[in-house]
Amino acid sequence: MTEKRDISPPHDPRIRFFDRLAADWDDSEQDPLDTVHRIGGVAELLGFRSGEAVLEVGCGTGQLTGWLAEHVTPGRVTAVDFAPGMLAKARAKGIDADFRVADACRDELGRACFDAALCFHSFPHFRDKPAATRNLAQAVKPGGRLMVVHFNSIAAINAFHDHVGGEVSGDHLPDLQGWDVLLTAAGLRRVEWIDREGLFFLKAVLARTDAT
Ligand SMILES: C[S@@+](CC[C@H](N)C(=O)[O-])C[C@H]1O[C@@H](n2cnc3c(N)ncnc32)[C@H](O)[C@@H]1O
Repeated sequence: MTEKRDISPPHDPRIRFFDRLAADWDDSEQDPLDTVHRIGGVAELLGFRSGEAVLEVGCGTGQLTGWLAEHVTPGRVTAVDFAPGMLAKARAKGIDADFRVADACRDELGRACFDAALCFHSFPHFRDKPAATRNLAQAVKPGGRLMVVHFNSIAAINAFHDHVGGEVSGDHLPDLQGWDVLLTAAGLRRVEWIDREGLFFLKAVLARTDAT
């Protein structure tokens, strides 16, 4: 008898939720010019450098992807999302990045091949946060960094998702203690934490092994 493999698509209702929003995302849900303007204000915190390999998880319609690609060129950005409609919009922009449909909680994102992984406005939606954090940690190189960014505080983000309701009700960012549990279990160490009105920023680094 042949062994059965799980090749079923993820049954996450958020895929349909975000795909329904894809057509209007850049026009009425979130202004792309504002996104690029505001990310410029935290560029120093992010610290992207020319030549870096960057993984963007939950890239949506690619509002940040072009900015990232410019900042790391001749390095590369790999941008993933599990909602094909969102990703199709991103691909259509002709951004010089590698786009891939992938589920952060289930699909391998890479093995020790990225200098940095970035979750911008996406982490609260990952249905299995321990699995996603482990997956992200596995994708970055030893000494590499995971960064999570929102243009709002934890309290405001969590309240907003509960207000939206439906599929994203309860999609929360963990508190400091919750983050430390997630990060430690994935071999990551928190090195920066900002949670204030208008900004959430987390940076964690993957421990270097003796061999590196
Ligand atoms: C609020 S949107 C933000 C999109 C984009 N980062 C932006 O700011 O315009 C969250 C994105 O995360 C994606 N997402 C949610 N859960 C995911 C998962 N498990 N794996 C990959 N992408 C996911 C959604 O499809 C959606 O595109």
